[in-house]
Amino acid sequence: MRVKSVRSFGGSEASVAVVGVYAGLRSAPGTDSVLKGIKSWVRTALVATGFDGASGQVAVLALPDGSPVSRVGFVGLGDDLDLDGLRQAAALGRKALDKETRIATTLHRVPLDGAAGAVVEGMGMADYRFDRYKSQRVDRDPLGIDLVGSTDGWETETARSAVVVDAVGLARDLVNEPSRAKSPVMFAERIGTLAVRHGVATETWDIERLTEEGMGGLIGVGMGSHRPPCLFVVHHKPRRPKAKLALVGKGIVFDSGGLSLKSADFMENMKDDMAGAAAVVAATVAIARLGIPVEVVGYAALAENMPGGGAQRPGDVLQIRNGKTIEVLNTDAEGRLVLADALSLAAEGKPDLIVDVATLTGACKVALGPKIAGVFARDDEAANKVLAAARSTGERMWHMPLPSDYRTMIDSAVADMKNTGQGRYGGAITAALLLEEFVGDTPWVHVDIAGPAFLDTAEHYLPKGGTGFGVRALIELAESMKA
Ligand code: BES
Ligand code: ZN
Ligand code: ZN
Repeated sequence: MRVKSVRSFGGSEASVAVVGVYAGLRSAPGTDSVLKGIKSWVRTALVATGFDGASGQVAVLALPDGSPVSRVGFVGLGDDLDLDGLRQAAALGRKALDKETRIATTLHRVPLDGAAGAVVEGMGMADYRFDRYKSQRVDRDPLGIDLVGSTDGWETETARSAVVVDAVGLARDLVNEPSRAKSPVMFAERIGTLAVRHGVATETWDIERLTEEGMGGLIGVGMGSHRPPCLFVVHHKPRRPKAKLALVGKGIVFDSGGLSLKSADFMENMKDDMAGAAAVVAATVAIARLGIPVEVVGYAALAENMPGGGAQRPGDVLQIRNGKTIEVLNTDAEGRLVLADALSLAAEGKPDLIVDVATLTGACKVALGPKIAGVFARDDEAANKVLAAARSTGERMWHMPLPSDYRTMIDSAVADMKNTGQGRYGGAITAALLLEEFVGDTPWVHVDIAGPAFLDTAEHYLPKGGTGFGVRALIELAESMKA
């Protein structure tokens, strides 16, 4: 993505523009400058298409010869525009002019703090495609955005957005990649190379090291696959950190369910079961690139949940790194097993806050639907930090309860706990209660992204498939901890 600022539409080489219109066809700042002398004609044409400036609307009109651009995408801004509305409007404008690789816009001039950053973020995220497996793919130039008329701070804002868009794209790519091409080790190598390119330190624990280190959960889950599990760690260590944040991601590169095999329908999208790990590593690399003065350690617990001959059996007992034992009654509840090890390890590093991100339970998706993640924490203050970050990035999260009396639902007759609840009810909560056993006294927040990690239908800046959900909130969270 290339972003620059030009004085007028005449100063841009773009032949198309995206401009904003508020509800009731009121022009946003800058919109009229592309309509010199033809404003009333355009108004009539817009009305004829049914466009009235409501949010979510977009109309593309061809302008007469002699106009500064040949086509304009008008996007509706509604009557109470916020930053995410602006990201979405920018995305719709970009998608309406799909074939273009250079777009001039005045959308960044709406009076909202961070508008230029939001426009670039929205257009940039909407520009995503995953076509590496299409034999007919067309190579396109990266998107160029010409901001017509400058605003205070546009350069800093949009440079940050470019890094954020990159990180979201990386997480989406990793999720969309077919599982065949992302064994735990391949995944670790791919993100390892990328992290090193950006000067971020990484470490990978292979199966021998996992055994030495007592990572019984990761090993138990990984043994059913011919492709061994591993733990990948990425570490941003600024010189004088203001705080320390640990990020932990569920990285099941494919979840067949193991011996408690899933049905075909439920397995279809299970290449996405590493979306938490993808979000964590993508965010950590971005935080490092942005030079945010907060120490961040990102842990990706990587394993493939398969029903091979070495697979764990229902009834097996695993010992997790912190010494606690778990009876595995359903091998499909594997995420909590790998996270237990990674959370124990994260807690040993004494961070100020641990946040784990995981496509953990179908139950969370049942509760909140496909667009909203569940947030679980013992400590409201910690939960509120994550919720506030997500609110500012437009990633929808909802604070769920974590009732301690439900802990009896994971009592086991033979081990310290079992990896299932009682029946299906409250399944997202019982999973979170199990995770809590592994964080000790460290403030901790669990984000269940089973719904929003992967979408069946695209909308505004979110594509069908991997969404990169959580990446932006984690970056924002680190930013909020520097104060
Ligand atoms: N990866 C799944 C959860 C999931 C479901 C993510 C749908 C995204 C979309 C997880 O490992 C799983 O299978 N959980 C079980 C737990 C149960 C067996 C206790 C579930 O939610 O059904
Ligand atoms: Zn599972
Ligand atoms: Zn899973």
